[in-house]
Amino acid sequence: MCGIFGYVGKQNASKVLIHWLEKLEYRGYDSAWFVVWNTSWLQLVKSVGKVSYLTAKSENTLVADETFSYWIAHTRWATHGWVTENNCHPHYSENEKIYLVHNGIIENYKELKDSLVAKWYKFYSETDSEVVAKLIEDSWEWNLLKTVEKVLPTLEWAYAFLFISKENPDEIIGVKYWSPLVFWYSNDKKDLYFSSDTQALAWVVENIIFLDDWELVHIKSSDYTIKSEWKLVSKSAEKIDVASLKAEKWDFKHFMLKEIFEQPKVLNDVFRWRIDFENLKLNKAGSFEELDKFEFDKVVFVACGTSYHAWWLGTYWLQDLAGMDSSVEVASEYEYKNIRVEAKTLYVFISQSGETADSIEPLKYLKSKWAHTFWIVNVVGSTISRLTDSWMFTRAGTEVWVASTKAFTAQICTILILALYFWEKNWNLWRQKYRQIIQELQKIPGIIDELLKESEEIRKVAQEIKDYKQFFFLWRHLELAVAYESSLKFKEISYLNSQALPSWELKHGSLALVDKDFPSVIFMPSDFLYEKNLSSIQEVKARNGKILAVSNKKIDSATWNVIIPETIEETYPFITAIAGQLIAYHTADLLWRDIDKPRNLAKSVTVK
Ligand code: F6R
Repeated sequence: MCGIFGYVGKQNASKVLIHWLEKLEYRGYDSAWFVVWNTSWLQLVKSVGKVSYLTAKSENTLVADETFSYWIAHTRWATHGWVTENNCHPHYSENEKIYLVHNGIIENYKELKDSLVAKWYKFYSETDSEVVAKLIEDSWEWNLLKTVEKVLPTLEWAYAFLFISKENPDEIIGVKYWSPLVFWYSNDKKDLYFSSDTQALAWVVENIIFLDDWELVHIKSSDYTIKSEWKLVSKSAEKIDVASLKAEKWDFKHFMLKEIFEQPKVLNDVFRWRIDFENLKLNKAGSFEELDKFEFDKVVFVACGTSYHAWWLGTYWLQDLAGMDSSVEVASEYEYKNIRVEAKTLYVFISQSGETADSIEPLKYLKSKWAHTFWIVNVVGSTISRLTDSWMFTRAGTEVWVASTKAFTAQICTILILALYFWEKNWNLWRQKYRQIIQELQKIPGIIDELLKESEEIRKVAQEIKDYKQFFFLWRHLELAVAYESSLKFKEISYLNSQALPSWELKHGSLALVDKDFPSVIFMPSDFLYEKNLSSIQEVKARNGKILAVSNKKIDSATWNVIIPETIEETYPFITAIAGQLIAYHTADLLWRDIDKPRNLAKSVTVK
């Protein structure tokens, strides 16, 4: 959610800056701006829309061989104000001497703005960020660092900022509170970088300094100091997993399709760390050894969006397999509940990015109450992964574009492994079933490969459904998570309306919507509720509704079939979820949607 980038050095801005912005584009692509300067003059380039639009503009504006020593840049995901050039960053003061880029939300911006308006300041944008530029001007202490340190305590809530000032032309200040910011410098200190995340920097560096809340980096000429809560500190750089952060599209039409096709490999990577297939048992080193030290009788899962859907499977698996009580909480609401921290409850947070503000807030609260927290995160070095000591990485590799696919599959796999761990720990019965699940997991990557070969067949079905405007996505039992997740994927990239619903709930009201123009997609592998799903199909058909059945069996009563390969009941969600991803992908592609950059979305939701 908004990417910010800063650089001090001698590289040619017009050639390399766009490259960095492209790497951050997945964080927001409503608009992009940058400002470059070389102490004597300043150049600002802005563009509404994708970074590629900015490329053309910058080529016209910047002299090809011009070297700028300082730049700050931004890709925007709009929170305050429409997608217009005025609302794009960098924002600047009225005297046009102070410039900043911002990621986050200043919650008290209205009150601050009112006080500045009362002093006759004029505002050109609707953003909260412009207020901070004007506030710096208003509080000016003849020195950028002093003024920033004076203004920051008056701001409420989330930010990562980069500041520059014409008054102190050889300085950049980077500061973080809640929103992510990382920093890096080369050994000879000829190149210094700031970025919202490690992904953009992974193309040039192997070690990064992760800034914590209230930390500020002050670059002057080509030297820097770091302060924590205004006191000087020294911080060392940490190694990042460069290979897993670099992502390329190869020959795939979209990043999303590439990531869908990567799923067999992703699962093999998860298994390599966690399962000993030879001895049909889990590899307990690390995370599980930590959990072994405590007794738990309940697991509460907390997450948002796709990660929240993954948890639904966790509750079924934990209850069905491990016989353990469990519940799911949507993170954005959880913090507003009167949370009763239970000593024997494990609070598990799951996040692809590890930066989701809605999840970080309740995690911090629970930690402050000494609750047993545990996280499952994909991005190494992310904020959530730095907050708690007990964890498991999902190891899906970098998920570049917005709609989550392989991260979901890696999450459900990790959750199933967690359920198997508790099953073994608490119950230790029914070994045959336990072994059967592990044996089947080993086959799942191959089974997914079989399904992926049917991608073009699924495209033919997508061709049939693409002109309908609204859909039910129906489920029972384990397919709950799959139906919710498939419905979200479908909405996100095709912009067609869909609602996930338990198939037996149709008759309690929702059937009112079903007619020949309102089809339903039903996820119904041949599990113990298969016959009941067949009855639901009849209910829909009796109202003239059309049905797309996703099943390992051909269903004659359905209008269209997506036939998936066979597995066992417990592992069908791995297969049906990927069928759902392909249905969404092909439908969106046939509708000419911008699949890798769907409208109004951003990959990493760092605002509340
Ligand atoms: C959907 C999607 C979002 C995220 C949600 C939580 O495709 O990606 O719904 O799942 O914003 O993000 P993380 O998992 O990064 O906490």
